Amino acid sequence: MSGFEYKKGALHAEQVNLADIAKEIGTPFYCYSKSEIEQRFAQLQSAFADLNPLIAYAMKANSNQAIISLLGKAGAGADIVSLGELERANAAGIVANKIIFSGVGKSEKEMSRALELGIHCFNLESVPELERLNKVANKMGVIAPVSVRINPDVDAKTHAKISTGKFDNKFGIPYIDAKTVFEKIKNSANLKAIGLDMHIGSQIINLEPYNEAISLLAGLFSELNENGHSLEHIDIGGGLGISHGNNEPIVDLLEYAKIVRSHIAPLNCKLILEPGRWLVGNAGVLITKVEYIKQGAGKDFVIVNAAMNDLLRPTLYEAHHDILPLTKTKDNSQTILADVVGPICESGDYLAQKRNLNSLKQDDLIAIMNAGAYGAVMAGTYNSRPLIAEVLVKDDKFEIIRKRQTIAELIALDDVPSWI
Ligand code: LLP
Repeated sequence: MSGFEYKKGALHAEQVNLADIAKEIGTPFYCYSKSEIEQRFAQLQSAFADLNPLIAYAMKANSNQAIISLLGKAGAGADIVSLGELERANAAGIVANKIIFSGVGKSEKEMSRALELGIHCFNLESVPELERLNKVANKMGVIAPVSVRINPDVDAKTHAKISTGKFDNKFGIPYIDAKTVFEKIKNSANLKAIGLDMHIGSQIINLEPYNEAISLLAGLFSELNENGHSLEHIDIGGGLGISHGNNEPIVDLLEYAKIVRSHIAPLNCKLILEPGRWLVGNAGVLITKVEYIKQGAGKDFVIVNAAMNDLLRPTLYEAHHDILPLTKTKDNSQTILADVVGPICESGDYLAQKRNLNSLKQDDLIAIMNAGAYGAVMAGTYNSRPLIAEVLVKDDKFEIIRKRQTIAELIALDDVPSWI
C-alpha cells in the first residue's frame, strides 16, 4: 500500500486528509509518510536478508532529522558526504560504525571529525585524498579504515547530470588504476584497506549496468585478496530508480537483489548498500495551492505557490512528477492542457509541462507526487522565498518536522556593514 491514497475523494497521507494539514499550516509544504518509509526499508532488508547487508541510507536524499532518526531506528546506517551530514547522522543517533563517508572533496576537518567519531570507513576517490587522510590519521595517532570507490566506466543509462560511473565523470578511481592505489594504501602506515566501493548513478531503471559494474568489482575483489590484501566488503552504492509517474517502470527489487547476490554470495564478503531515493522518494509529496489559472495562446498556465526553489528537479533534470488534485472532482471529462508553474521570474520555473490536468480553479490544492527524495534538501530561497515547512504523518496524526522559515529569519541571516 502506498502512503498516499484517495479516501472518499480526498487525498490522504496514511489516515490524514492532506487538505486538513494545509488548513492548519498553510501551503506549500512537504509531507512524508512514516509507514511508507518503514515499509520500503523493510522490503529492502527482506530482499537482501540472506546477505545481511549494511544499509547505509544516502542521507543527501532527505536529511531531515526526523527521517534520519526513523531510518536509524529501523536499523539503517548512513552514507554521508559532508561534515553537516556527519553531524546530522550523529545527532540522529546513528552509530558511527554504520557511517560511510563518500564524496570527492573531503576536507581535513571532515576527516578528523569522522576519525574522532570512529566511522566505518572512508570511500576514497583519489590519490591526493588518500595522502591527506593518511596524514590526518597519523597526526591523530589512529588507523583510518578505507574503501576505494572504483570508477568502472559503465554507463548507468540515466540522466547525464546524475550519471557517475563513466571515466568522464569526476568520481572514483579508474578501475585500471585500482591495483596501484591499493599498493599505495598498503604502504601508508595510517590507512587500512577494508573494501571496494562503487556508485554509478542515480534513478537507474535498467539493471544491466549494475550487473556489469558489480561483476567488475567482484573480479577485482578476488584479485586484490589473492595479491595479499584483506578486503572485507563490497559497497555497491545506491542509485536504484523509482517511478515518479508517467508510466515510468517500477524496478524489480528482487531482480536487483538476484543480480547482486549472483556476484556477492560466492565471495563470502560483507555487502554495503547506499540507497537514497528508493527509500524516501515515493514517501513524500509537495502540496501547493493554485494562485491563478492563466489562459495562454495554445495552453494554460496553472500558477501555484510552490516554485523551482522548493522543488528543483523538473527544472534541473526535466524530471517528471505526477500531479494530483487533493480533491477528486466527480466530473473527470473536463481537462486542460497546462504547464504548472511557480511565481519565480524565470521561464525555467515550472513543476510540470504540457500536462493534461483535470480542470482546476483558483485556491484548489494539488500534490506534486513522489517528491520525498531530493526535494526539500535541494530547496533554496531564490526570490527571497523562505524555506517551506515539512511534516511527517503517522497513522492519523501529523507533526511539523521542519518549521516554515519566516521572512524575518531570512533577512536576519544577512548583516549590513556599518560603513554602508
Ligand atoms: N551514494 C553516493 C555516493 C551518491 O552520490 C548517491 C547519490 C547515493 C549513494 C544515493 O543515490 P540514490 O539511491 O538516491 O539514487 N539530485 C538528483 C540525484 C543526485 C544523486 C547524487 N548521489 C535527483 O534529484 O535526481
